[in-house]
Amino acid sequence: MDIANRTLLITGANRGIGRALLEEALRRGARRIHAGVRGGFRHSDPRVTPLEFDVTDPRQVERAVAQVRELELLVNNTGILSADDLTDTDSIRRHIEVNVLGAARVTNGVLPLLKRTRGAIVNNVSLAAIAAVPATPGYSMSKAALASMTQSLRALLAHTGVTVHAAFIGPTDTGMSRGIEVAKATPGTTAQGIYDGLAEGQEDIFPDPMSRPLAHGWRDGIAKLLERQFRAFTPSANVA
Ligand SMILES: NC(=O)c1ccc[n+]([C@@H]2O[C@H](COP(=O)([O-])OP(=O)(O)OC[C@H]3O[C@@H](n4cnc5c(N)ncnc54)[C@H](OP(=O)(O)O)[C@@H]3O)[C@@H](O)[C@H]2O)c1
Repeated sequence: MDIANRTLLITGANRGIGRALLEEALRRGARRIHAGVRGGFRHSDPRVTPLEFDVTDPRQVERAVAQVRELELLVNNTGILSADDLTDTDSIRRHIEVNVLGAARVTNGVLPLLKRTRGAIVNNVSLAAIAAVPATPGYSMSKAALASMTQSLRALLAHTGVTVHAAFIGPTDTGMSRGIEVAKATPGTTAQGIYDGLAEGQEDIFPDPMSRPLAHGWRDGIAKLLERQFRAFTPSANVA
């Protein structure tokens, strides 16, 4: 999918990678962008429509998606990260609530629109989905769950024409990664990599200089092989 002339919904579009995805989509000629934000966001480009909701609040999500008339691409970008040591189950719950259930809620809300346009979903996952970062286990668990959700959704929606992509993002310089002392991509570089991967039809997108070298190993690896094999057991796999 190319972004030119498309209608998008990007969650967490006010800052970080979400904001970079918004700006890059404008540069690539998007027709309309619904900017999922928690409030107080304005943009000078008339193609941008702020859509206010907290992904943890089902009623807010329902009200917001009811305002969307047409959609070709959903980017589930919203996320939280905090350090923990697995002794605080509330911290694990918060990560799951935002990073997994939030994405599931928004996806379910807009799915009828995406089916109509045979659109696409990009879930912003993380390299922490492939191997846990032990300093942030709650976050890592939630991103592994989001990657798993992406695989299931991909198979379940295959017969509808809606494609489902995971962006396995490496360290990117945003508020989320502040204080983590590693080399980081700019949010703009990561955003470009995500849209480039989508344009190339990549199921799993490794969008930045840190993640890109891992793409081959992932695509030829055991997890991908099993994903393809398990797809055969999808109830809708043989539906035209
Ligand atoms: N930065 C990295 O190194 C990195 C690496 C791998 C993956 N990722 C993933 O990329 C995505 C974007 O990350 P980022 O670095 O851009 O993070 P960020 O700068 O911290 O931005 C997070 C965004 O999520 C929104 N958000 C958080 N909780 C929300 C909620 N309950 N409801 C609605 N919006 C909510 C925030 O809105 P507010 O402004 O209202 O708080 C903000 O727009 C995340 O899913 C993250 O896990 C990032």
